[in-house]
Amino acid sequence: EPTFLKPQTNLVSPFEPIEVTIASNTSCMRGKSASFVQHIEFDLTGTALEGTFKPGQSIGVTPPGVDALGRPEGARLYSISSPSFGEDGAGKIVTTTCKRLIDQFDPQYGEGQVAVSGLHLGVCSNYLGSLKSGDKVLVSGPSGKKFCLPEAVEQHNYVFVATGTGIAPYRGMVKELLYGPQGPTKRQIHVVMGVPYTSDLLYDEFFREAASVHPNLHYHTVVSREYGTDGALQGYVHDYLRRTPAIGDGVLGQEETLLYMCGLKGMQVGVYQYLAVHGLEDAYLRIPKPLIGTDPSAWTALDARRIRPKSRCLVEVY
Ligand code: A2P
Repeated sequence: EPTFLKPQTNLVSPFEPIEVTIASNTSCMRGKSASFVQHIEFDLTGTALEGTFKPGQSIGVTPPGVDALGRPEGARLYSISSPSFGEDGAGKIVTTTCKRLIDQFDPQYGEGQVAVSGLHLGVCSNYLGSLKSGDKVLVSGPSGKKFCLPEAVEQHNYVFVATGTGIAPYRGMVKELLYGPQGPTKRQIHVVMGVPYTSDLLYDEFFREAASVHPNLHYHTVVSREYGTDGALQGYVHDYLRRTPAIGDGVLGQEETLLYMCGLKGMQVGVYQYLAVHGLEDAYLRIPKPLIGTDPSAWTALDARRIRPKSRCLVEVY
Protein backbone atom coordinates (compact mmCIF):
# COMPACT_ATOMS: atom_id res chain seq x y z
CA GLU A 1 0.00 0.00 0.00
CA PRO A 2 1.51 3.35 -0.99
CA THR A 3 1.45 6.11 1.58
CA PHE A 4 1.07 9.67 0.38
CA LEU A 5 2.30 13.01 1.63
CA LYS A 6 -0.08 14.65 4.05
CA PRO A 7 0.28 18.32 3.23
CA GLN A 8 -0.93 21.16 5.40
CA THR A 9 -4.26 22.70 4.44
CA ASN A 10 -6.21 25.86 5.24
CA LEU A 11 -3.41 27.83 6.83
CA VAL A 12 -5.16 30.88 5.41
CA SER A 13 -8.94 30.64 5.34
CA PRO A 14 -10.80 31.61 2.15
CA PHE A 15 -12.98 33.77 4.40
CA GLU A 16 -9.96 35.77 5.53
CA PRO A 17 -7.68 35.77 2.48
CA ILE A 18 -4.33 37.54 2.59
CA GLU A 19 -2.83 39.94 0.08
CA VAL A 20 0.15 38.76 -1.98
CA THR A 21 1.88 40.14 -5.07
CA ILE A 22 1.80 38.88 -8.66
CA ALA A 23 5.42 38.24 -9.62
CA SER A 24 4.66 37.55 -13.29
CA ASN A 25 1.87 36.66 -15.68
CA THR A 26 2.73 35.18 -19.07
CA SER A 27 0.93 33.26 -21.79
CA CYS A 28 1.24 29.48 -21.74
CA MET A 29 0.16 29.01 -25.33
CA ARG A 30 2.48 28.13 -28.17
CA GLY A 31 1.60 30.92 -30.58
CA LYS A 32 -2.00 31.56 -31.59
CA SER A 33 -4.62 29.37 -29.98
CA ALA A 34 -8.35 29.29 -29.42
CA SER A 35 -7.76 29.00 -25.66
CA PHE A 36 -6.10 31.50 -23.39
CA VAL A 37 -4.05 29.99 -20.60
CA GLN A 38 -1.78 32.06 -18.38
CA HIS A 39 1.17 30.98 -16.25
CA ILE A 40 0.93 33.10 -13.12
CA GLU A 41 3.54 33.50 -10.40
CA PHE A 42 2.50 34.54 -6.89
CA ASP A 43 5.11 36.00 -4.55
CA LEU A 44 4.32 34.66 -1.07
CA THR A 45 7.41 36.10 0.62
CA GLY A 46 6.87 36.90 4.28
CA THR A 47 3.35 35.47 4.45
CA ALA A 48 1.96 32.44 6.30
CA LEU A 49 1.71 30.66 2.93
CA GLU A 50 5.42 30.78 2.13
CA GLY A 51 6.80 27.28 1.56
CA THR A 52 3.50 25.53 2.24
CA PHE A 53 2.14 24.50 -1.19
CA LYS A 54 2.72 21.02 -2.58
CA PRO A 55 2.03 20.14 -6.22
CA GLY A 56 -1.44 18.61 -6.46
CA GLN A 57 -2.80 21.24 -4.06
CA SER A 58 -4.67 24.41 -4.99
CA ILE A 59 -4.48 28.06 -4.08
CA GLY A 60 -7.67 30.07 -3.42
CA VAL A 61 -8.08 33.35 -5.28
CA THR A 62 -10.74 35.85 -4.22
CA PRO A 63 -11.75 38.21 -7.04
CA PRO A 64 -12.98 41.70 -6.21
CA GLY A 65 -16.60 42.73 -6.53
CA VAL A 66 -19.93 41.11 -5.79
CA ASP A 67 -21.88 38.29 -7.41
CA ALA A 68 -25.28 38.50 -9.10
CA LEU A 69 -26.99 38.48 -5.69
CA GLY A 70 -24.86 41.31 -4.37
CA ARG A 71 -22.72 39.13 -2.10
CA PRO A 72 -18.93 39.51 -2.11
CA GLU A 73 -17.33 37.09 -4.57
CA GLY A 74 -16.01 33.93 -2.93
CA ALA A 75 -12.66 32.23 -3.46
CA ARG A 76 -11.98 30.04 -6.52
CA LEU A 77 -9.43 27.25 -6.49
CA TYR A 78 -6.51 27.08 -8.91
CA SER A 79 -4.15 24.15 -9.22
CA ILE A 80 -0.57 24.76 -8.15
CA SER A 81 1.86 24.05 -11.00
CA SER A 82 5.12 24.55 -9.10
CA PRO A 83 7.05 22.08 -6.92
CA SER A 84 7.13 22.37 -3.11
CA PHE A 85 10.34 24.39 -3.36
CA GLY A 86 8.59 26.85 -5.66
CA GLU A 87 10.13 28.53 -8.68
CA ASP A 88 12.80 30.15 -6.52
CA GLY A 89 14.00 27.04 -4.68
CA ALA A 90 12.50 28.18 -1.36
CA GLY A 91 8.74 28.02 -1.89
CA LYS A 92 8.29 31.79 -1.95
CA ILE A 93 7.25 31.97 -5.60
CA VAL A 94 4.47 29.55 -6.53
CA THR A 95 2.60 29.26 -9.81
CA THR A 96 -0.77 28.38 -11.20
CA THR A 97 -2.03 27.68 -14.71
CA CYS A 98 -5.17 29.67 -15.33
CA LYS A 99 -7.42 29.13 -18.34
CA ARG A 100 -9.71 32.02 -19.17
CA LEU A 101 -13.28 30.82 -19.08
CA ILE A 102 -15.22 32.27 -22.01
CA ASP A 103 -18.75 31.17 -22.82
CA GLN A 104 -21.66 32.35 -24.90
CA PHE A 105 -23.74 34.64 -22.74
CA ASP A 106 -26.50 32.81 -20.94
CA PRO A 107 -29.14 34.85 -19.06
CA GLN A 108 -28.78 32.48 -16.10
CA TYR A 109 -25.63 34.37 -15.16
CA GLY A 110 -27.73 37.45 -14.37
CA GLU A 111 -27.42 41.14 -15.04
CA GLY A 112 -24.39 41.92 -12.93
CA GLN A 113 -22.08 39.60 -14.86
CA VAL A 114 -19.59 40.66 -17.47
CA ALA A 115 -20.99 40.10 -20.95
CA VAL A 116 -19.09 41.44 -23.93
CA SER A 117 -20.28 40.88 -27.49
CA GLY A 118 -22.68 38.24 -26.25
CA LEU A 119 -19.92 36.45 -24.36
CA HIS A 120 -19.86 35.59 -20.70
CA LEU A 121 -16.43 35.94 -19.18
CA GLY A 122 -15.65 33.76 -16.16
CA VAL A 123 -15.31 36.16 -13.24
CA CYS A 124 -12.18 34.94 -11.53
CA SER A 125 -10.22 33.38 -14.40
CA ASN A 126 -10.42 36.60 -16.40
CA TYR A 127 -9.58 38.74 -13.37
CA LEU A 128 -6.57 36.57 -12.54
CA GLY A 129 -5.56 36.18 -16.19
CA SER A 130 -5.41 39.98 -16.60
CA LEU A 131 -3.35 40.80 -13.49
CA LYS A 132 0.06 42.36 -14.09
CA SER A 133 3.29 41.82 -12.26
CA GLY A 134 3.25 43.98 -9.12
CA ASP A 135 -0.53 43.78 -8.74
CA LYS A 136 -1.95 42.66 -5.39
CA VAL A 137 -4.31 39.70 -5.11
CA LEU A 138 -6.21 38.05 -2.25
CA VAL A 139 -5.29 34.39 -1.79
CA SER A 140 -5.90 31.51 0.64
CA GLY A 141 -4.99 27.87 1.11
CA PRO A 142 -3.36 25.48 0.69
CA SER A 143 -6.34 23.40 -0.37
CA GLY A 144 -6.59 19.67 -1.11
CA LYS A 145 -4.73 16.63 0.15
CA LYS A 146 -5.93 13.81 -2.09
CA PHE A 147 -3.79 14.29 -5.19
CA CYS A 148 -0.26 14.16 -3.86
CA LEU A 149 3.04 12.45 -4.48
CA PRO A 150 3.86 9.43 -2.29
CA GLU A 151 6.09 9.74 0.77
CA ALA A 152 8.70 7.34 -0.59
CA VAL A 153 9.15 8.78 -4.07
CA GLU A 154 11.89 6.29 -4.97
CA GLN A 155 9.59 3.31 -4.44
CA HIS A 156 7.24 4.14 -7.30
CA ASN A 157 6.90 4.67 -11.03
CA TYR A 158 4.54 7.37 -12.22
CA VAL A 159 2.03 7.55 -15.04
CA PHE A 160 0.59 11.07 -15.22
CA VAL A 161 -2.40 11.37 -17.57
CA ALA A 162 -3.73 14.87 -18.32
CA THR A 163 -6.10 16.74 -20.56
CA GLY A 164 -5.61 20.48 -21.04
CA THR A 165 -4.88 22.41 -17.85
CA GLY A 166 -4.90 19.06 -16.03
CA ILE A 167 -1.17 19.14 -16.79
CA ALA A 168 -0.65 21.80 -14.09
CA PRO A 169 0.02 19.55 -11.08
CA TYR A 170 2.33 17.34 -13.17
CA ARG A 171 4.62 20.25 -14.00
CA GLY A 172 5.11 20.67 -10.25
CA MET A 173 5.40 16.93 -9.60
CA VAL A 174 7.91 16.33 -12.38
CA LYS A 175 10.00 19.24 -11.08
CA GLU A 176 9.73 17.73 -7.62
CA LEU A 177 10.83 14.30 -8.88
CA LEU A 178 13.65 15.43 -11.17
CA TYR A 179 14.90 18.76 -9.83
CA GLY A 180 14.35 18.44 -6.08
CA PRO A 181 17.05 18.80 -3.43
CA GLN A 182 17.27 15.00 -3.10
CA GLY A 183 18.37 14.68 -6.75
CA PRO A 184 16.54 13.18 -9.71
CA THR A 185 14.52 10.01 -9.24
CA LYS A 186 15.72 6.93 -11.09
CA ARG A 187 12.16 5.69 -11.43
CA GLN A 188 10.12 5.76 -14.63
CA ILE A 189 7.82 8.72 -15.28
CA HIS A 190 5.31 8.83 -18.12
CA VAL A 191 3.40 12.02 -18.90
CA VAL A 192 0.48 11.59 -21.31
CA MET A 193 -0.94 14.97 -22.36
CA GLY A 194 -4.15 15.34 -24.39
CA VAL A 195 -5.01 18.65 -26.10
CA PRO A 196 -7.12 19.74 -29.08
CA TYR A 197 -4.31 21.47 -31.01
CA THR A 198 -0.52 21.54 -30.92
CA SER A 199 -0.77 25.19 -29.86
CA ASP A 200 -2.44 24.01 -26.62
CA LEU A 201 0.49 21.90 -25.43
CA LEU A 202 1.05 23.72 -22.15
CA TYR A 203 4.62 23.56 -20.78
CA ASP A 204 5.62 21.55 -23.85
CA GLU A 205 9.12 23.01 -23.86
CA PHE A 206 9.65 22.18 -20.20
CA PHE A 207 8.62 18.55 -20.65
CA ARG A 208 10.62 18.13 -23.86
CA GLU A 209 13.77 19.56 -22.33
CA ALA A 210 13.38 17.58 -19.13
CA ALA A 211 12.83 14.37 -21.15
CA SER A 212 15.93 15.03 -23.24
CA VAL A 213 18.05 15.34 -20.10
CA HIS A 214 16.32 12.57 -18.09
CA PRO A 215 15.77 9.40 -20.15
CA ASN A 216 13.46 8.02 -17.45
CA LEU A 217 10.95 10.80 -18.23
CA HIS A 218 8.73 9.84 -21.16
CA TYR A 219 6.63 12.64 -22.57
CA HIS A 220 3.68 11.63 -24.77
CA THR A 221 1.40 14.09 -26.55
CA VAL A 222 -2.04 13.27 -27.95
CA VAL A 223 -3.47 16.00 -30.18
CA SER A 224 -7.14 15.28 -30.82
CA ARG A 225 -7.98 17.62 -33.70
CA GLU A 226 -4.90 17.43 -35.90
CA TYR A 227 -3.84 14.62 -38.21
CA GLY A 228 -0.64 12.81 -37.25
CA THR A 229 2.28 12.09 -39.56
CA ASP A 230 0.51 8.82 -40.47
CA GLY A 231 -2.46 10.83 -41.73
CA ALA A 232 -4.72 9.56 -38.94
CA LEU A 233 -6.38 11.36 -36.06
CA GLN A 234 -4.72 10.59 -32.72
CA GLY A 235 -7.87 10.49 -30.61
CA TYR A 236 -7.95 10.90 -26.84
CA VAL A 237 -5.50 9.97 -24.09
CA HIS A 238 -7.11 6.54 -23.56
CA ASP A 239 -6.81 5.78 -27.29
CA TYR A 240 -3.14 6.58 -26.99
CA LEU A 241 -2.76 4.29 -23.96
CA ARG A 242 -4.47 1.53 -25.90
CA ARG A 243 -1.97 1.63 -28.73
CA THR A 244 1.10 2.12 -26.53
CA PRO A 245 2.09 -1.25 -25.00
CA ALA A 246 5.15 0.28 -23.30
CA ILE A 247 2.72 1.86 -20.86
CA GLY A 248 -0.02 -0.79 -20.54
CA ASP A 249 2.06 -3.97 -20.66
CA GLY A 250 5.09 -2.22 -19.22
CA VAL A 251 4.98 0.30 -16.46
CA LEU A 252 1.29 0.10 -15.48
CA GLY A 253 1.64 -3.64 -14.93
CA GLN A 254 4.35 -3.12 -12.31
CA GLU A 255 3.17 -3.28 -8.73
CA GLU A 256 4.89 -0.10 -7.60
CA THR A 257 3.43 2.10 -10.33
CA LEU A 258 1.02 4.94 -9.46
CA LEU A 259 -1.51 6.20 -11.99
CA TYR A 260 -2.61 9.84 -11.81
CA MET A 261 -5.46 11.28 -13.85
CA CYS A 262 -6.20 15.01 -14.02
CA GLY A 263 -8.43 16.99 -16.35
CA LEU A 264 -11.82 16.66 -18.02
CA LYS A 265 -14.40 14.49 -16.28
CA GLY A 266 -14.95 12.72 -19.60
CA MET A 267 -11.51 11.10 -19.53
CA GLN A 268 -12.39 9.01 -16.50
CA VAL A 269 -14.59 6.44 -18.25
CA GLY A 270 -12.16 6.08 -21.16
CA VAL A 271 -9.18 5.40 -18.90
CA TYR A 272 -11.17 3.03 -16.66
CA GLN A 273 -12.33 1.07 -19.73
CA TYR A 274 -8.76 0.91 -20.93
CA LEU A 275 -7.60 -0.45 -17.55
CA ALA A 276 -10.35 -3.09 -17.54
CA VAL A 277 -9.66 -4.24 -21.09
CA HIS A 278 -5.96 -4.62 -20.23
CA GLY A 279 -6.61 -6.68 -17.12
CA LEU A 280 -5.36 -3.85 -14.92
CA GLU A 281 -8.64 -3.16 -13.12
CA ASP A 282 -7.77 -5.21 -10.02
CA ALA A 283 -4.63 -3.17 -9.52
CA TYR A 284 -6.21 0.25 -9.86
CA LEU A 285 -9.99 0.01 -9.49
CA ARG A 286 -12.72 -1.23 -7.20
CA ILE A 287 -15.54 -2.30 -9.50
CA PRO A 288 -19.01 -2.16 -7.86
CA LYS A 289 -21.03 -5.40 -7.87
CA PRO A 290 -23.49 -4.57 -10.67
CA LEU A 291 -20.62 -3.85 -13.05
CA ILE A 292 -18.54 -6.95 -12.31
CA GLY A 293 -18.47 -9.21 -15.35
CA THR A 294 -20.03 -6.60 -17.64
CA ASP A 295 -18.44 -5.47 -20.89
CA PRO A 296 -16.25 -2.42 -20.03
CA SER A 297 -16.79 -0.94 -23.47
CA ALA A 298 -20.46 -0.53 -22.52
CA TRP A 299 -19.68 1.42 -19.32
CA THR A 300 -21.14 4.91 -19.23
CA ALA A 301 -19.78 8.06 -17.60
CA LEU A 302 -22.29 7.43 -14.81
CA ASP A 303 -20.93 3.90 -14.30
CA ALA A 304 -17.43 5.35 -14.14
CA ARG A 305 -18.43 7.54 -11.23
CA ARG A 306 -19.50 4.44 -9.28
CA ILE A 307 -16.09 2.85 -9.80
CA ARG A 308 -13.76 3.66 -6.91
CA PRO A 309 -10.09 4.14 -7.67
CA LYS A 310 -7.81 2.08 -5.40
CA SER A 311 -4.85 3.63 -3.61
CA ARG A 312 -2.55 3.33 -6.64
CA CYS A 313 -4.96 5.39 -8.76
CA LEU A 314 -5.39 9.11 -8.07
CA VAL A 315 -8.15 10.97 -9.84
CA GLU A 316 -8.80 14.71 -10.08
CA VAL A 317 -11.41 15.47 -12.73
CA TYR A 318 -13.69 18.45 -13.20
P1 A2P B 1 -11.66 17.52 -28.21
O1 A2P B 1 -11.89 18.88 -27.63
O2 A2P B 1 -10.97 17.54 -29.53
O3 A2P B 1 -12.88 16.67 -28.24
P2 A2P B 1 -8.71 21.45 -23.45
O4 A2P B 1 -8.99 21.37 -21.99
O5 A2P B 1 -7.54 22.30 -23.79
O6 A2P B 1 -9.93 21.75 -24.25
O7 A2P B 1 -8.23 19.98 -23.90
C1 A2P B 1 -8.96 18.87 -23.57
C2 A2P B 1 -8.53 17.72 -24.46
O8 A2P B 1 -9.19 16.54 -24.00
C3 A2P B 1 -8.92 17.90 -25.90
O9 A2P B 1 -8.00 17.26 -26.74
C4 A2P B 1 -10.28 17.21 -25.95
O10 A2P B 1 -10.63 16.77 -27.23
C5 A2P B 1 -9.97 16.02 -25.07
N1 A2P B 1 -11.19 15.36 -24.58
C6 A2P B 1 -12.49 15.75 -24.69
N2 A2P B 1 -13.32 14.84 -24.17
C7 A2P B 1 -12.55 13.81 -23.73
C8 A2P B 1 -12.83 12.55 -23.13
N3 A2P B 1 -14.08 12.15 -22.87
N4 A2P B 1 -11.78 11.75 -22.82
C9 A2P B 1 -10.53 12.13 -23.08
N5 A2P B 1 -10.20 13.31 -23.67
C10 A2P B 1 -11.20 14.15 -23.99
